[in-house]
Amino acid sequence: MNKSERYALLLKQVGSLVAGESDTTANLANAAAAIHEAFGFWWTGFYLVKGEELVLGPFQGPVACTRIPFGKGVCGTSWARRSTVVVPDVEEFPGHIACSSASRSEIVVPLIRGGKVLGVLDIDSRELATFDDADAAGLEPIAALLAALL
Ligand code: SME
Repeated sequence: MNKSERYALLLKQVGSLVAGESDTTANLANAAAAIHEAFGFWWTGFYLVKGEELVLGPFQGPVACTRIPFGKGVCGTSWARRSTVVVPDVEEFPGHIACSSASRSEIVVPLIRGGKVLGVLDIDSRELATFDDADAAGLEPIAALLAALL
């Protein structure tokens, strides 16, 4: 299976996981686990917009920074741009926030509902250049599905 096929399956799996459950924490927690396990990422999780900051939500992986201001780091940049940010080498991204020194590349996808960013899906890899357009294209429908539940 190529990446797009794997993401198509993952979208279905996440859809089944959240169907019939109305609790946001439960749904984001299972979504983080499903995405994390499907690809064996280093860190997979959500930050949710609370006021002027992103606050750590359900995740899988090592402990992480709890608060990220608007426009800061890769996550805050994705929020400000309202678009997916792919970072092939975190050392080359000005202002990258290093929660774990093992992270080498990253993708952040905003959770947008009604034109408003409600949070972000953040994924880190221990390898350089793990993420590309296929990851963005695969993760965006998953983010949209989850944003609709927030
Ligand atoms: N690297 C992120 C911070 C969150 S951790 O990767 C889990 C950033 O620069 O926003």
